[in-house]
Parts: sequence; C-alpha cells; structure tokens
Amino acid sequence: MCRFPKGVPWVRYHGKYKDLSINLVWPGKDLLLGVDSVGTVSASLVTYASIQALKPDLVINAGTAGGFKVKGASIGDVYLASDVAFHDRRIPIPVFDQYGIGARRTFCTPNLLKEVDLKLGRLSTGDSLDMSPHDEGAISANDAVIKDMEGAAVAYVAELLSVPSIFVKAVTDIIDGEKPTAEEFLQNLVAVTANLDQAVTQVIYFINGRSLEDL
Ligand code: ADE
Repeated sequence: MCRFPKGVPWVRYHGKYKDLSINLVWPGKDLLLGVDSVGTVSASLVTYASIQALKPDLVINAGTAGGFKVKGASIGDVYLASDVAFHDRRIPIPVFDQYGIGARRTFCTPNLLKEVDLKLGRLSTGDSLDMSPHDEGAISANDAVIKDMEGAAVAYVAELLSVPSIFVKAVTDIIDGEKPTAEEFLQNLVAVTANLDQAVTQVIYFINGRSLEDL
C-alpha cells in the first residue's frame, strides 16, 4: 500500500512486468500554478516519500536534459549518467564547497551499457532551465555532457536511504547551440520523450531476471 500525504500532487502508477514490480512516480502538477513540478525540491521530496513507501531495490530517474554538442550530445540522444553533481549550489567555504557540488558516482551498470544503446556521460543538475555564466563554469568544472533539473537531488536522497540509483536522460535541447533553450526544449519535447520511453523500456527489459550485481 502506497500512502503519500493527503493533498500532494504526486502521482504513482504501478504495474508488473514479468518478475518486476514497477512503480512509476512523478511529482505531478504544481498545486498553485498547474505546471509540472520540475526541479530539485519536488524531486527530492517525491524520491524520499516513494522510497519510504515503496522500498524499491533500484531507483531509475528518467527525464529530459540539455546537452552540450562540444561534448558530443545531439537532440534525441539518450544518456546514462556515470556521475551527477550540482552546478548552482555555491558555498565558498572549505568542504562546504564540495558539499554544495554534491558530486557522486551513480550505480555502476556495465552490462546494461553493453546491451542497451545508451551514451554514457556526466550529468550536472541545477534549478534553472537556462544557464547563467556561473552555471556555465560550474557545469564545465563538473565535466558534464548533459544538464537537468533533478538528477543530483534524486541521487542524494537515494544514497541517503541506501538505494542504488541510475539516471536515463534524453536530450531535448543543445545548450551550446544557436536556438533559445526554452523554445528548443518545447519544440523537441514530444519526439524526444518517445526516445526516452523506448530507452527506459529497453532498460526494464534488461533488468528483468537479473540481480543488481549483474546490471
Ligand atoms: N531539461 C531539458 N533541457 C534542459 C536544460 N537545458 N536544462 C535543464 N534541464 C533541462
């Protein structure tokens, strides 16, 4: 039984695929404005509540990301994140600076990478769709090929609760390209989400019947 607090917009779909019990959870629509609850705050909360309620063996954070063409990303590519870090948590005090960046390795899945057609790269997370000059430097310091608004937050919560997590991200926009990010994101969202859908399906097919150590 999954109990989320009364009134929250979080949505859970549940189903079975062969041996797997799959819970698809999304943060839903903002209660005030009716838009999707993007960003690290809702991602952290819903990850925490979902892990507490559902006790998963693995968290898969699936979503969209911006990509850097200088690092080899193209629209429609689907990445598996090797590492995650934040690019907008600036705390210029020794050690707090590293805490702010929050760099972590994701759960290692070498066999999944061999079998499923995914690119591998580092993911940088921040709470803005656009990129400030500071973000640009921090993303570069994180050596990221893709940029999203949730990944590192989900990784933090999953690690806190000792659940392995992986990150599947489809590229909707090229950050170092010509087009304005918001426009390009909205233009490609539907088509790229279909790629994400396919990739996550392949990941699920691969996971079925395997132990975590075999991924
Ligand atoms: N999701 C999709 N594109 C993004 C971008 N450019 N920055 C952050 N999150 C995104």
